[in-house]
Amino acid sequence: MLATEVIKAKREGLALSKDDLQFFIQSYTNGALPDYQMSALLMAIFLKGMNFQETLDLTQAMLDSGERVEFPQLFPIDKHSTGGVGDKTSLLLAPIAAACGVPVPMMSGRGLGHTGGTLDKLESIPGFNVHLDLPTFKNQVETLGLCFIGQTQNICPADKKIYALRDVTGTVESLPLICASIMSKKIAEGIKGLVLDVKVGSGAFMKSLEEAQALAESLISIGEGHGLKTQALITDMSQPLGSFVGNAVEVGECLSILKREDFMGHRFEKFHATETLSLELSAMMISMNKNIPLDQARSQAREALDSGKAYELFEKVCAKQGGDIQKLNFPTQCTVISAEKDGFLASMNCEKIGVAGIEMGAGRKKVTDTVDPIPGIEICVPVGGQIHRGEPLFKIHHTSDTPGLSPAQGLLSTCFQISDSPVEIPPLIQKRLS
Ligand code: URA
Repeated sequence: MLATEVIKAKREGLALSKDDLQFFIQSYTNGALPDYQMSALLMAIFLKGMNFQETLDLTQAMLDSGERVEFPQLFPIDKHSTGGVGDKTSLLLAPIAAACGVPVPMMSGRGLGHTGGTLDKLESIPGFNVHLDLPTFKNQVETLGLCFIGQTQNICPADKKIYALRDVTGTVESLPLICASIMSKKIAEGIKGLVLDVKVGSGAFMKSLEEAQALAESLISIGEGHGLKTQALITDMSQPLGSFVGNAVEVGECLSILKREDFMGHRFEKFHATETLSLELSAMMISMNKNIPLDQARSQAREALDSGKAYELFEKVCAKQGGDIQKLNFPTQCTVISAEKDGFLASMNCEKIGVAGIEMGAGRKKVTDTVDPIPGIEICVPVGGQIHRGEPLFKIHHTSDTPGLSPAQGLLSTCFQISDSPVEIPPLIQKRLS
């Protein structure tokens, strides 16, 4: 089979067969096909789309690129987000659910496009190792109830390579590519249930509710087709989640919630959006695992957080994976973007906020870039909030070495609108699907 024929077929909008996709994914994973041919196919898929059967076949081909973990004695549940800015819920909901007895084998990704990635955030904890072998991963889920890893050479190696390539080739915001990427690694990690957080808005890959709903429905169909209990929330990404965007600063926000402590001069209560969504997603995981009503699961999640059990578990998991929370480094300098007039914050271009982070090294411009854990952006006023001239809208937290400060300032100074009259506050949870 010729790779160029497959690329040309998709370029012409034809449906690819299971064999075409198996050939392409296998050859790319084992190094027989170069990045430029995979990039061309990804762009053709991005532009021409895929029907549901192709999306299923692509997911299967990516799943077949590696091994599958099995937990025959357990009922593990995971959560996955379709990608957002300041989207840090994994760091909270995983220890909350695990502290309630839910086994959580969490395989996450790195930053993708303008969005952040759980692996990059975890690696801002000095020493944290996300590159565990499969027996260690399994053992940690069986003993501690929670393990965080990335795609490996064994599990979903196709997603590991394709994900990195999509990040730098403008091919992220594609329904079939997102579905195959998420579902192949989730099915491979041996879970029996999956909670999806499908983001919608200017900081999400799906900008409208219709697109987000189509993505959620596709993800659920693939999950259920593979025998997974699958549920989804569609949640707001018209502004970053919570107050901080970056790597170490997002971990800091989560630790503040877990420990009920101040962070960067704020009470933990300030981070209520992050806490609310994390609790709701963890309750869905608990309800799925224990087969109990959602309200009962919500009480268990709240108790695990308030009692400090979730924090204790997070600390144990960090230590087990080599991470030392006490050694987290935070930015030392601050540059403020202030409001030029009085009014109400009407909207943000949330994608621009993610790009501002990338400009400062918090994400990647090329596959080979390393992420700087330190810089971050603080969102001082949420959409709907009242603001007076001269008050801070954003704070850029950085060090004297942080690059890209001036482009980041430029992006942040032009990423919002202020209205003279009060505006509607977008609901955090916009829809539930199961
Ligand atoms: N998360 C993933 O793992 N893959 C995507 O394509 C988008 C979000």
